Amino acid sequence: MLDIKDKLIVALDVDTLGEAEKFVDKLCPAVNMFKVGSQLFTACGPQAVQMITKKGAKVFLDLKSYDIPNTVKKAVEAASKLRVFMLTVHLSGGKEMLQAAASVPNRPKIVGVTILTSQSEDNTANRVLDLARLAKEAGLDGVVCSVAETKMIKKELGKDFLVVNPGIRPKDAQANDQKRVATPKEAIEAGADFIVMGRPILEAKDPLKLIEGLI
Ligand code: C5P
Repeated sequence: MLDIKDKLIVALDVDTLGEAEKFVDKLCPAVNMFKVGSQLFTACGPQAVQMITKKGAKVFLDLKSYDIPNTVKKAVEAASKLRVFMLTVHLSGGKEMLQAAASVPNRPKIVGVTILTSQSEDNTANRVLDLARLAKEAGLDGVVCSVAETKMIKKELGKDFLVVNPGIRPKDAQANDQKRVATPKEAIEAGADFIVMGRPILEAKDPLKLIEGLI
């Protein structure tokens, strides 16, 4: 049976700590990991991360770092102190930046952002694969990509190289601004280690029921 609990990451794209906490309290038994992205982190900072970890859930800190190597390394060190489980860097930052991020001792898992699922261009698959190879060479743990590239990445880079899929929608749901979307079942069958879902859950009348019916 496909297991959603260890795979689902709920994107807490809200503006206040209070809203974030309400969702964590409501979803915590069914969800192990929450994503703190630029919206919540800019509004509430490390408190958002601490609130989630205190309740026993894991944090995926999605700030998509893209900067000079030393700055990214320092950001990874700061995230380590916050005890986040996994974080993102931008693969277009180049090998030196990625190696600097990977060099931090006892760091969170680091996944590299390939091409955003809100973008859709020619030759996406090859570009994603090249970026994923770069991520592996630089010592990262995996990549963020769409479901469409997941099977290929697992085949080329090995089953232990993590794949995180955003752009996930329940069957028949709205795509919003995401272009390359897929269902949770399609993502998990393609080999995704984690799937990220935000608005469909945050905007659901009954988010827990929606999660239960995802697969
Ligand atoms: O609301 P929705 O399910 O579209 O949210 C997707 C989340 O995943 C957002 O927080 C967005 O920042 C993030 N994300 C993405 N595409 C990527 C990387 C991250 O949509 N390639």
